[in-house]
Amino acid sequence: MPTPQEISPRPLDPRLLQLEGISRASVEAHYRLYQGYVAKRNEILGALDGVDLGAANQVFSELRALKVDLTFAIGGIKNHELYFAHLGGEGGNPTGAIDGLIKRDFGSVDKWRDDLKATGMAGRGWAWTAYDWDEHRLFNYIGDAQNTFPVWNATPLVALDVYEHAYFLDYQTDRAAYVEAFLRNLDWAVVNHWVEAYRVPAA
Ligand SMILES: [Fe+2]
Repeated sequence: MPTPQEISPRPLDPRLLQLEGISRASVEAHYRLYQGYVAKRNEILGALDGVDLGAANQVFSELRALKVDLTFAIGGIKNHELYFAHLGGEGGNPTGAIDGLIKRDFGSVDKWRDDLKATGMAGRGWAWTAYDWDEHRLFNYIGDAQNTFPVWNATPLVALDVYEHAYFLDYQTDRAAYVEAFLRNLDWAVVNHWVEAYRVPAA
């Protein structure tokens, strides 16, 4: 079996080091966690290369352990690549196509924002505004760990990290203040680029 190709962390955009309300130290530590997810993804795929398929067992087996933890590592990669990519902007109200989608599916930008904030307060790790291709609408889905609970056939367009590592250095337990800071740094142009790239139908 060929060894799966290793991947490398995406470089940290320098503008992430100058966010408003999220410190450079916090972002640098956060980026190191992301690098760790990439390293573990590569390590797990390397280990899978030599695993005994005949010993696979649902209670405990090497294959099971590796594949379960692979979902955590890959979730950590995908979630953080979204998160870092759409920060560094001016925040404020959405623009362009995403503005129309939000207004159609949530009623107003304020309702979307209130629902995302609440979802972030209710989650243990993530809140995602995703376009659900089966329901043909945006919805704020909730996540706990890196591998819970992504929904099939939905494309995340906003990824709000509410793990404590995202805010404890700057805000201690005040997650709500961090969520406000997150929103102040969103880059709507990036979100609109994803809407276009994934061909999410316009409102
Ligand atoms: Fe994170």
